[in-house]
Amino acid sequence: MTKKFVIFGNPVEHSKSPQMQNAGLKYINFDGIYEKHHLIDGNIIKNIFLENNYSGANITVPHKEFAYENADIVEGIAKEIKAVNTYILKDGKVVAYNTDAPGFLKAIESFGKVKNVLLLGAGGTAKAISLALKEKGIRVTVLNRSEGKLEFFKNHNIPSFSWENFKPDIYDLVVNSTSAGLKDDYLPAPKELLEPILKNASFAFDCVYGKITPFLALARENNCEIKDGEDMLLHQGVLAFEYFTNTKADNKVIEAMRKGLRGEKIL
Ligand SMILES: NC(=O)c1ccc[n+]([C@@H]2O[C@H](COP(=O)([O-])OP(=O)(O)OC[C@H]3O[C@@H](n4cnc5c(N)ncnc54)[C@H](OP(=O)(O)O)[C@@H]3O)[C@@H](O)[C@H]2O)c1
Repeated sequence: MTKKFVIFGNPVEHSKSPQMQNAGLKYINFDGIYEKHHLIDGNIIKNIFLENNYSGANITVPHKEFAYENADIVEGIAKEIKAVNTYILKDGKVVAYNTDAPGFLKAIESFGKVKNVLLLGAGGTAKAISLALKEKGIRVTVLNRSEGKLEFFKNHNIPSFSWENFKPDIYDLVVNSTSAGLKDDYLPAPKELLEPILKNASFAFDCVYGKITPFLALARENNCEIKDGEDMLLHQGVLAFEYFTNTKADNKVIEAMRKGLRGEKIL
């Protein structure tokens, strides 16, 4: 029987996950289809997942925390992050994972060895990235516009600051995990603060994908090697794909999924 996979979100119309996942399914001749599901009430995510006979799901904004709370079993780093982006049905149970965290680590591999990271932002993505870096033994400092969301990081012994009380150090990688630059032309922190940090850094990564944000432009002006969020999106998707299909995705599958993501033909 054809297996059904889905992405839950609100909004979900813009999501490129179906074109990426369907390209992978087609490439390995898997009898499955991946669709979008506009879910308004995240509290009922598990029931909707089961009622629709989905075999696997991705979960995007704003439902990752609800999905965590509703899962029967939570695996790996997601237990600490307390937010999940992947569900699979296993022996009648809803098993949940966070693949954003390992997807990010995979995406920064191209920078080589990184030792000290400044992470801008303190939202759900920053939680996943900071714990992934910490688990890898990479130093991470969080810098956010406001104090409100810093408690999570303090509870995990991750140095965290707002713009007001921050004293910069030297970092080899600076990551933008804020939504500044997504739909606007803002920098994620004031230019006077950011520019000297970027001058001393070697690499800059933006979670936003498909464009040179003001953050990446400033980093490039200051001679950083830059990278947008496409690889992060791709690799979180590849890891979810492996859970969905119970297969290991080799480079050919990964490249088929990248083409799918970019809207290019795969076969
Ligand atoms: N490539 C990928 O695979 C991938 C995966 C996940 C997320 N993302 C992207 O990552 C970004 C963050 O997502 P999220 O889910 O973590 O969002 P979120 O939970 O809503 O957090 C947003 C963060 O951005 C900060 N912020 C928003 N506007 C800002 C501005 N103009 N200047 C400075 N800081 C600002 C907020 O600061 P306050 O606390 O002060 O409000 C908060 O820390 C989004 O752009 C999303 O599209 C990409």
